[in-house]
Amino acid sequence: MKKHKGIFITFEGGEGTGKTTVAKLVEEELISKGMKVFLTREPGGTGLEFSEKIREIIMDNDNIDPITELLLFNASRREHLVKKIIPHLNKNEIVISDRFSDSTFIYQGVVKGVELSCFTKADEITVGKENQPSITFIFDLDPKIGLERISSKNRSTNRFDDEGIEFHQKVKKAYLDLYESNKEKYFLLDASKSVDEIKEIIVNKIIKHVS
Ligand code: TMP
Repeated sequence: MKKHKGIFITFEGGEGTGKTTVAKLVEEELISKGMKVFLTREPGGTGLEFSEKIREIIMDNDNIDPITELLLFNASRREHLVKKIIPHLNKNEIVISDRFSDSTFIYQGVVKGVELSCFTKADEITVGKENQPSITFIFDLDPKIGLERISSKNRSTNRFDDEGIEFHQKVKKAYLDLYESNKEKYFLLDASKSVDEIKEIIVNKIIKHVS
């Protein structure tokens, strides 16, 4: 049972799939249609210094035990949820988070091998059933193209981007399996399409959801 009135939407997918670029375009389009939108990201959170500091700790240390890593992502998420996401949802806004719990399930769980029960317990404490996203868009792309996009943009990489191709292939497969496990909750996007095409698909889906 949801406690708030807004709509909580999350974007998920591997590196270089265009989530962040599309999220900004979707935000602009929804605002131009008169909707109130709060765009944020994980790890970290828009305007949330504490969680951004945890992001730095995670990104700057490449020898963290996977369970410690999972707990740090959850600590950052709890602050993000309580201080930003829920208050914006309570104002009846559309909240779009560029990554959320599914990233922990995929990266720390499926790919790095932390037991599912560990993820589930932590997620119950951190997020709970009542604060789960209403729609999750999964951006699917061949990791070779994703990594090429990152290097061609000349943007600085983090330690997750710098993992080998096998890591990114595992991430892609894990997201596809997640989609297959619940096609009602997840919406799969072909991220080889143009950002404008993807934006249109997402905006239409959100408008259908709110009307
Ligand atoms: P990004 O800001 O470029 O998406 O990078 C964040 C990285 O952190 C990304 O490669 C995935 C990773 N990540 C996890 O491993 N677990 C998580 O719970 C989250 C939110 C991100």
